Amino acid sequence: MNKIRAAIKGIGGYVPPDILDNFELSRMVDTSNEWIMQRIGIKERRILKEKGKATAYMGTKAIKELLKKTNTAPEEIDFLICGTITPDMPFPAVAQIICDKAGLINAYGYDINAACSGFVFALETGRRFIESGACKKVVVLGADMMSAITNYEDRSTCPLFGDGAAAVLLEPTNEDVGIIDSILKVDGSGAKLLHLYAGGSLHPASYETIDRKQHFVFQEGQNVFKFAVSKMAEVSVEIMQRNNLTHNDIKYLVPHQANLRIIDATARRMEINRDQVMINIEKYGNTTAATIPLCLWDFENNLKKGDNLILTSFGAGFTWGSIYLKWAYDPKK
Ligand code: UT7
Repeated sequence: MNKIRAAIKGIGGYVPPDILDNFELSRMVDTSNEWIMQRIGIKERRILKEKGKATAYMGTKAIKELLKKTNTAPEEIDFLICGTITPDMPFPAVAQIICDKAGLINAYGYDINAACSGFVFALETGRRFIESGACKKVVVLGADMMSAITNYEDRSTCPLFGDGAAAVLLEPTNEDVGIIDSILKVDGSGAKLLHLYAGGSLHPASYETIDRKQHFVFQEGQNVFKFAVSKMAEVSVEIMQRNNLTHNDIKYLVPHQANLRIIDATARRMEINRDQVMINIEKYGNTTAATIPLCLWDFENNLKKGDNLILTSFGAGFTWGSIYLKWAYDPKK
């Protein structure tokens, strides 16, 4: 009998309706559409503006769509795992709030904090719960409301980020599809280059941390850029080599959407063409844990059963990794 694998059986997503484009941003800080398009590749991003709504709201919307599309009752879900660095509050976890809001009354769940690698790390965890036989229906969510931790007076970070959420349903399969291999890495020494300084146990919120604007993303962009290119390419090439894949075998590279130049450099090192890369950075920006599942959501109808995909991410921590999977279903007619 074939080994049990975890297969993605559906995808749901949600982005808020409000758009913040480069022209509006240029009125807020000293920047321009040309600079942002050339250096990052983002045209606009979605911002969750409704009062009283945050990451769990977007995640609930994405999961409700996923359950509807896959004809799954909320009570059937065993486990919800959520990649996020922008939980509604330090506790309870977004996953726990969503179990209530989406009616996942038989599930348990928790959040994974791996920044832009949140979805990839969560997917690997979900995979193991399915392969071990512990769970039959697992929802893996990537959701972030980056606008809550972005300083809209800092031109070096505010063009980068947007809000969004997307989720996949994982189920066991005996077929030759599903998640095949993964390489995940961390290097905590990267914390000094990319972090959110205050609001944790080391620097709790105070008048001083607020005055110093330490509750927003801090990034040394150029240094992070170099790590992102080399690390994403390194693990993606390694996963191709150890699974005997050449660029011709790959239908899509699904990279984290932080910067179009990082995506292009990673694809070049894998000898993959632009038309083999899922790119939607121009319309959503960097939604942190949500970028990879939002790509799958946007490109779902281009995918066929058996297609080889490589997912790859790089983010704060540092965290990075690649997952090799075979897509498990054909587009719905
Ligand atoms: O998702 C998690 C991982 N994060 C990433 O992967 C992000 C990695 N880093 C990046 O994507 C890029 O480093 C950025 C997009 C953040 C910045 O691009 P860069 O090409 O590295 O620019 P830079 O920081 O080296 O700045 C170049 C110049 C500077 O001016 P001077 O010193 O040369 O006069 C900046 O002040 O561009 C200036 N600049 C801007 N100009 C117009 C920085 N931000 C802006 C801006 N508009 N928004």
